[in-house]
Amino acid sequence: TSTPSSTVCTVTKYAEFAGCLKSTNIVIQGPILVPNETLVDYSNLLPGSNVKVNGEVTWSHSTSFNKSYFLFTLGGDQITFDGSEGRFNGNGQEYWDGLGANGGLPKPKFFRVKATNSLIKGITIKNSPIHIFSIAGNNNTLDGIQVDNTDGDPVNGQQVGHNTDAFDVSATNITIKNSYIRNQDDCMAVNKGGDIHFFNNTCIGGHGISIGSISTGATVDGVFVDNCTIANSENGVRIKTVVNATNGYVRNIHYSNVILDAITIYGIDIQQDYLNGGPIGVPTGGIPVSNVFLTNISGTITSDAKYSVYILCADGACSNFTFTGINV
Ligand SMILES: *[C@@H]1O[C@H](CO)[C@@H](O)[C@H](O)[C@H]1NC(C)=O
Ligand SMILES: *[C@@H]1O[C@H](CO)[C@@H](O)[C@H](O)[C@H]1NC(C)=O
Ligand SMILES: *[C@@H]1O[C@H](CO)[C@@H](O)[C@H](O)[C@H]1NC(C)=O
Ligand SMILES: *[C@@H]1O[C@H](CO)[C@@H](O)[C@H](O)[C@H]1NC(C)=O
Ligand SMILES: *[C@@H]1O[C@H](CO)[C@@H](O)[C@H](O)[C@H]1NC(C)=O
Ligand SMILES: *[C@@H]1O[C@H](CO)[C@@H](O)[C@H](O)[C@H]1NC(C)=O
Ligand SMILES: *[C@@H]1O[C@H](CO)[C@@H](O)[C@H](O)[C@H]1NC(C)=O
Ligand SMILES: *[C@@H]1O[C@H](CO)[C@@H](O)[C@H](O)[C@H]1NC(C)=O
Ligand SMILES: *[C@@H]1O[C@H](CO)[C@@H](O)[C@H](O)[C@H]1NC(C)=O
Repeated sequence: TSTPSSTVCTVTKYAEFAGCLKSTNIVIQGPILVPNETLVDYSNLLPGSNVKVNGEVTWSHSTSFNKSYFLFTLGGDQITFDGSEGRFNGNGQEYWDGLGANGGLPKPKFFRVKATNSLIKGITIKNSPIHIFSIAGNNNTLDGIQVDNTDGDPVNGQQVGHNTDAFDVSATNITIKNSYIRNQDDCMAVNKGGDIHFFNNTCIGGHGISIGSISTGATVDGVFVDNCTIANSENGVRIKTVVNATNGYVRNIHYSNVILDAITIYGIDIQQDYLNGGPIGVPTGGIPVSNVFLTNISGTITSDAKYSVYILCADGACSNFTFTGINV
């Protein structure tokens, strides 16, 4: 065993990733090609480590990784990950078959955040096969993230990239800010947790800024969305609980100063009948939704969109909704 080193450890090829785990000062110096059937596992960084990314890291297409795998995992306490000069390329175009995580070829997720009390800034993500950031560690900030999955946009109405959620959050005390997202699914999806702050973000091409879908046993308490734009997306503001789910709740949800542009299904959507594959139309109340504050939400839906505002709640299962300055 050797003692941790603060001397800069530079990764210039895949084989060097593991050796730098002994350093608290890591520079990932692209271009780097990650070979097929391999992942980058930085789940055990030393506390307080700095990781800087320069240039591009590209993951080769792999045939054996399904949605249980992540191309990159970041873990450790008090990590500073600075990707402002870097880009991670997931080669999504090699995987996309329009079916996303629901079928077809196996596809890995991209970037797992197991780190705690950490800062992730500036990284550009290109062509993620499916879900992009999965945030499971508490007390993290993501700042200035760029997601460019435009190559997966639909062609002639046919899905190409699918389930490319930008930020899936199952954690507490998370801030995501100053980010620019182009994808084909939820910009953020909060699955459980709380104290989640989503500020100054632009979301284009996806399914909106979502709480849910919320399944049995999941609770969400405290989500604050402020100063965001959602454009060319299926939905804008969205809360969805899974039909027949129980033993959970969604409460203290605030969306303020949100601009919508060319939303194609629902501008604002709160529904308790969600089912992956299609909502069933009959809401159930096992996951109550309360204390929802929507303030200053304005903009447009397309002429063939369904509703500006759509709310489908089971009897008594939605309470204390305060909507102010809604103009959709
Ligand atoms: C991985 O890449 C190697 C070298 O290019 C190639 O020979 C091999 O067939 C690839 N494996 C898979 C599973 O695609
Ligand atoms: C993913 O593949 C592993 C084997 O590599 C398998 O054990 C697991 O069940 C698969 N997961 C899914 C969600 O298909
Ligand atoms: C998150 O921060 C709070 C407040 O500083 C602290 O009590 C808690 O232990 C932290 N959580 C983790 C996982 O470090
Ligand atoms: C949230 O996390 C930050 C560190 O990222 C910490 O300083 C702060 O105390 C945490 N807040 C709470 C309420 O846990
Ligand atoms: C959001 O942007 C505004 C205007 O540029 C700025 O004043 C504010 O500090 C930003 N908020 C965060 C959380 O970075
Ligand atoms: C939202 O934008 C306003 C105006 O730029 C700014 O004053 C405010 O701090 C921003 N809110 C957040 C949470 O960043
Ligand atoms: C929900 O529960 C009801 C009553 O148990 C059942 O009839 C129905 O099939 C369930 N729906 C789904 C989608 O699971
Ligand atoms: C409403 O939100 C928009 C977009 O963030 C902002 O420009 C405007 O100043 C806000 N209006 C009020 C009354 O706060
Ligand atoms: C409604 O929400 C506000 C703000 O969180 C809270 O003060 C109030 O107690 C809530 N009312 C009910 C009936 O829950």
